[in-house]
Amino acid sequence: MTKEGIRTDNFQTDNMQKDSMQLEHIHSMDDVLHMLDSLFRDEGDWWDRFYADRSRNIPFFLNAPDENLVEYFEQAIVQPGHVLELGCGAGRNALYMAGRGCRVDAIDISQEAVAWGIERTRESRAAVNFHCTSLFDYPAEAESYDFIYDSGCFHHLYPHRRISYLEFVKHALKPGGVFGLVCFSLGDMGAELSDWEVYRQRNMRGGLGYTEEKLKAIFHSFEVLDFRRMRQMTQPGPLFGEAFLWTALFRKEASPSPVI
Ligand SMILES: C[S@@+](CC[C@H](N)C(=O)[O-])C[C@H]1O[C@@H](n2cnc3c(N)ncnc32)[C@H](O)[C@@H]1O
Repeated sequence: MTKEGIRTDNFQTDNMQKDSMQLEHIHSMDDVLHMLDSLFRDEGDWWDRFYADRSRNIPFFLNAPDENLVEYFEQAIVQPGHVLELGCGAGRNALYMAGRGCRVDAIDISQEAVAWGIERTRESRAAVNFHCTSLFDYPAEAESYDFIYDSGCFHHLYPHRRISYLEFVKHALKPGGVFGLVCFSLGDMGAELSDWEVYRQRNMRGGLGYTEEKLKAIFHSFEVLDFRRMRQMTQPGPLFGEAFLWTALFRKEASPSPVI
């Protein structure tokens, strides 16, 4: 290698170091969250690979809505309105809610999942607004949704993202709006790891299991409308149901009445 060559290599290395010095500077809490994200896998890539082969025998690949979600609508516990689904996958619940007369926004970090969901809406002529984005980058308008639903996304989020998740749901829900969650039940499904252990292992082993107490503590500022196990459904069938999942329905506090 020539002297110039050596100089160029050093120059490039110096520049790369300068770039990473700038990029890896922590100025804000958001930078801390991004730095912690970087310790783990790229979620978008991972989920794209997960959805790439649609013929795999994955229960939630079937186009059947959650049994608890159907119950909320049939028993009018949740009314049709403006809905946001978080981590919607291929859209089975979003499509159901659109069919019940809801105006549905559905977001997922995986392009493959969103592309599949869009194909399904075309086939069924349902109207769902799909967006491929992380929920942490989704610019939800404040107090704009009557109902937010998450079936199986929350337990895949790293513990450092839980506070932002909670803030996001509170921000996007109307006062008195309802939030529905389907989540791994610790002991039956999901990793039995403390939050700190996730960082020691740099791995969440396929999603975290949650106890009823832990979920109710996380969402303590909400009123609990319903909390139960999902009913086991025969698969394949018209409804999705796996008994290793919690189903929870929470209501955000209505605005306090103005002081006269
Ligand atoms: C277990 S799957 C459930 C999919 C769908 N809700 C269903 O039940 O058919 C979890 C989904 O969450 C999505 N996801 C994970 N992290 C996300 C994030 N930060 N923002 C949006 N979606 C995310 C994944 O791409 C995946 O589709």
